[in-house]
Amino acid sequence: LASLVVAIDGSSGSGKSSVSRRVAGVLGLACLDTGAMYRAVAAAALDRGIDPGDGAAVAALARAAHLEQSTDPAHESVVIDGLDVTAAIREPRVSAVVSEVARNPEVRAELVARQRAVAEAGAVVIEGRDITTVVAPDAPVRLLLTADAEARVARRAQELHGASDAAALAATRDSIVERDARDAQVNDFFTAADGVVEIDTSRLGFDEVVDAVLQVVVARV
Ligand code: C5P
Repeated sequence: LASLVVAIDGSSGSGKSSVSRRVAGVLGLACLDTGAMYRAVAAAALDRGIDPGDGAAVAALARAAHLEQSTDPAHESVVIDGLDVTAAIREPRVSAVVSEVARNPEVRAELVARQRAVAEAGAVVIEGRDITTVVAPDAPVRLLLTADAEARVARRAQELHGASDAAALAATRDSIVERDARDAQVNDFFTAADGVVEIDTSRLGFDEVVDAVLQVVVARV
């Protein structure tokens, strides 16, 4: 498994982050959450009072950023230029601006280059929106996790509010559906590219998704 790369894409609420971490843990691989990298750049921009829409300023920030990110699937931690943003990157104020940061071609070029370096080192599960298509299109295992809108909203409501009552669902729906629509303009992560195995997780529990992913890994290596 020393050179194995497992590439996993999916929309918000597809369950890809928790599934990727578990799969990496089971296989003894590292795990790279690429969304956390875009979120860290967005959080640093907000922290410095940089307008997320100021493309040149955000690109300069991304290129110069010293990013320390844990790839241990059991331990989440993201530090950008000495600022620990592990908790901040999950805040709604960051989720609200991250798509704008991620749409910036210069930011993408910088972060994709860093992600490819991690893929080249191997022994890693990498998850995001463009991993199967752009970052690691030659990975031996490439998966797309999909889920219908209802399932995605319910999962995110549980994550964000610890509840899936009507109010939590309503608060989550707008932010998720809008962010997915914006992100999908950059990379189509609703359709599996050639050779990518799609797993529809809508009606599967967490352990079932993990098992399905592991089955694909076992079949391909
Ligand atoms: O996966 P997560 O929801 O944390 O990703 C946060 C944001 O980062 C996404 O909404 C998207 O704008 C961006 N992203 C991206 N490409 C990736 C991973 C995330 O553009 N590979």
